[in-house]
Amino acid sequence: MATNNQTTEQQQPQALRHQEVGHKSLLQSDALYQYILETSVYPREPQPMKELREITANHPWNLMTTSADEGQFLNMLLKLINAKNTMEIGVFTGYSLLATALALPEDGKILAMDINRENYEIGLPVIEKAGVAHKIDFREGPALPVLDQMLEDGKYHGTYDFIFVDADKDNYINYHKRLLDLVKIGGLIGYDNTLWNGSVVAPADAPMRKYVRASRVCRKWREGVRQSLARRERLSFAGFKMDDESTARFVRYTYNLKDLDISRSCWGCQITDDGLYKISLAKCVSNLTSISLWGMTGITDKGVLNLVRVLKFMEFNGVQTRYCIFYV
Ligand SMILES: C[S@@+](CC[C@H](N)C(=O)[O-])C[C@H]1O[C@@H](n2cnc3c(N)ncnc32)[C@H](O)[C@@H]1O
Repeated sequence: MATNNQTTEQQQPQALRHQEVGHKSLLQSDALYQYILETSVYPREPQPMKELREITANHPWNLMTTSADEGQFLNMLLKLINAKNTMEIGVFTGYSLLATALALPEDGKILAMDINRENYEIGLPVIEKAGVAHKIDFREGPALPVLDQMLEDGKYHGTYDFIFVDADKDNYINYHKRLLDLVKIGGLIGYDNTLWNGSVVAPADAPMRKYVRASRVCRKWREGVRQSLARRERLSFAGFKMDDESTARFVRYTYNLKDLDISRSCWGCQITDDGLYKISLAKCVSNLTSISLWGMTGITDKGVLNLVRVLKFMEFNGVQTRYCIFYV
């Protein structure tokens, strides 16, 4: 949602700004995005959220707000996982905060952090009117020191059902390192803007809006994902829509990997013998002690044998590794 170049946004004609908001979504068609808003999102938007959205629309930095479709998604997600204890980093006027507060039970809690209280106070009367302000513990100031303090205290480890990060993108990797300790096992961390207006896949010379290019978000994010993968000892793609190329690409970055689970990676996207071959070329293969191919229909005995051959070859060369392959 965020932009660091607000002046440019203020000077934009309204139509263009609307187009930009549309293109923040994965749907690269204004008409389709508008259709979704009008048929599915706005009719179900709770009155307080509508009010806050309209108030925020007059703010000079309105482009920072969470979009209505994202707010609805957050609200639904939180209800589905029965979230009770949550955290939000990056509040602005509070649209995603309100979506969260409305989804939580009466005794639910949100630790909300932002360096700017003034913007939070714009939305606060709406949040109060909606009767959910008691769920919010707002802290003004940078979030990182608060997280450090919580980790030092020790009592917050593994206590959060859901954490939403929508703040300074350069710190995402620093947040992630800390939040992994604070989120519950089975909990969720949501990061806004990870595709950064599609720039993550744009060629270096592609035309990009100034704030998209200037923030270097996409480079930082890629580095962050790589660092995070490099530390992993377990990786599971079970239930994810992976294919040969995407699976092998992930595995290539996981230098410390011990257990690899690509079982039941299905739903129309299949891993085949070619994927197993590509995986066998990754550096981490020499560390692996367990590979699960359970329930995969796109591979044959030949592909598995090829993979096993590589593993045996490593063993033959003196690498002491015990392999456990689950394969049906
Ligand atoms: C994109 S806006 C958040 C939008 C919000 N989620 C919503 O629904 O409207 C980003 C917010 O992050 C805040 N922010 C920036 N750096 C921060 C930091 N270090 N710690 C906490 N908040 C920060 C900004 O003040 C800004 O309000």
